[in-house]
Amino acid sequence: MNQSSRLPGFYKKPLSERVSMVAQWADLSHEEQETLLGTHGLTASQADNMIENAIGVYALPLGIATNFQINNKDYLIPMVIEEPSVVAAVSNAARLFRAGGGFTTSSDEPVMIGQIQILDLPDINHAAEAVLANKSLLLAEADKVGGSIVRHGGGARDIEVRPIPTTSIGPMLVVHLLYDTRDAMGANAINTAVEHLAPHLEALTGGRVNLRILSNLTDRRKARAQGIIPAHELATDGLSGEEAVAAIVEAAVFAEVDPYRATTHNKGIMNGIDAVVIASGNDWRAIESGAHAYASRSGQYTSLTKWWQDTEGNLRGSIELPLALGTVGGATRVHPAASLALKILGTTSARELSEVAAAVGLAQNLAAIKALATEGIQRGHMRMHARQLAVAAGAQGDLVPRVVQAMIKEGNIRLERARSLVQEITGSTLSPAPGTD
Ligand code: MEV
Repeated sequence: MNQSSRLPGFYKKPLSERVSMVAQWADLSHEEQETLLGTHGLTASQADNMIENAIGVYALPLGIATNFQINNKDYLIPMVIEEPSVVAAVSNAARLFRAGGGFTTSSDEPVMIGQIQILDLPDINHAAEAVLANKSLLLAEADKVGGSIVRHGGGARDIEVRPIPTTSIGPMLVVHLLYDTRDAMGANAINTAVEHLAPHLEALTGGRVNLRILSNLTDRRKARAQGIIPAHELATDGLSGEEAVAAIVEAAVFAEVDPYRATTHNKGIMNGIDAVVIASGNDWRAIESGAHAYASRSGQYTSLTKWWQDTEGNLRGSIELPLALGTVGGATRVHPAASLALKILGTTSARELSEVAAAVGLAQNLAAIKALATEGIQRGHMRMHARQLAVAAGAQGDLVPRVVQAMIKEGNIRLERARSLVQEITGSTLSPAPGTD
């Protein structure tokens, strides 16, 4: 079915109506809708089977980013995040990209790296040669323990050697096993394979194996997204479209050349990416560490995105980063909300999921630098803050926007003012929301 993710006014609808719209979009059952509403989600006993010493569950908001069009396909994108403004910012940015034809994405084959550290080598160069000379045997050996991943067409692809002749503990040979994990993130498969290869490598090299573990710098498994925003879409009250494009490019160059700015710039990108990674039940620490290591690959920490003005004056942006995400295994199918998120996304492979996450990162980055380079981010944040204060003062339903509007108009965004406005409008003092007094 060809549905449009362009849902104007979605944010203004009551939560129950939003759930119905998403349910219709993704053909969700009644039980699945209950999962979204928190009445039927992850139970404490499921949690008990996921981690040690479990004592309960910890909930976070799950939102939907609208307007995304990626490679001519529309997506509603589930995002799990506690920070206000991110889902709205990403949806607004996706609308701007949509005006330029949407996102175009690509990704590498899902190839991970497993590392084996070999020490106490009689001759590091001979050891490296011996490993390479026996590549085919080692790859076949790794596939013997590959299980379902090998049955699904994945498995060992290549062996590389990285001799480090001088370290404080003597010469070290690092062997990399390149391993295609298909739709799994693949941590277990890789770790099993490198543990299995260890005794074979000791026999070949005469050395002693110490660590056998995957690398989270998954730079063979990158995803990319790019898009165009017509300059006129960026015009604000004070700036023409072309001026806004120039200011955004200036903001991007700041992050390219200065690690202090790049860290905040990339943090914003990860606001978007992590929210999709968490929603889909993937390991966001793995994604974070890979992203920041990749941002440092030149020796200087820099931006994960690039922004420039094209010959027609429009804004163009691109992002590239390692994104080892799975759509099978781990929590992706165990956590009821994660499998639901994948259903809403409608992605059919891990590669597609990683491309969607890259597009969300690019959208978040645009929203942040556009706001920073034009009106600043505090205006939007103050609106959200005013909303939280209105709710804290006991406002509900239609009263919330009235109190918010009045506080913004007066430029007086404080809890006492929210309370007095509630009193003025309703003629009574409402009980504050729980935990706000
Ligand atoms: C806040 O969570 C993220 C930003 O600081 C990102 C940025 O500065 O680009 C707004």
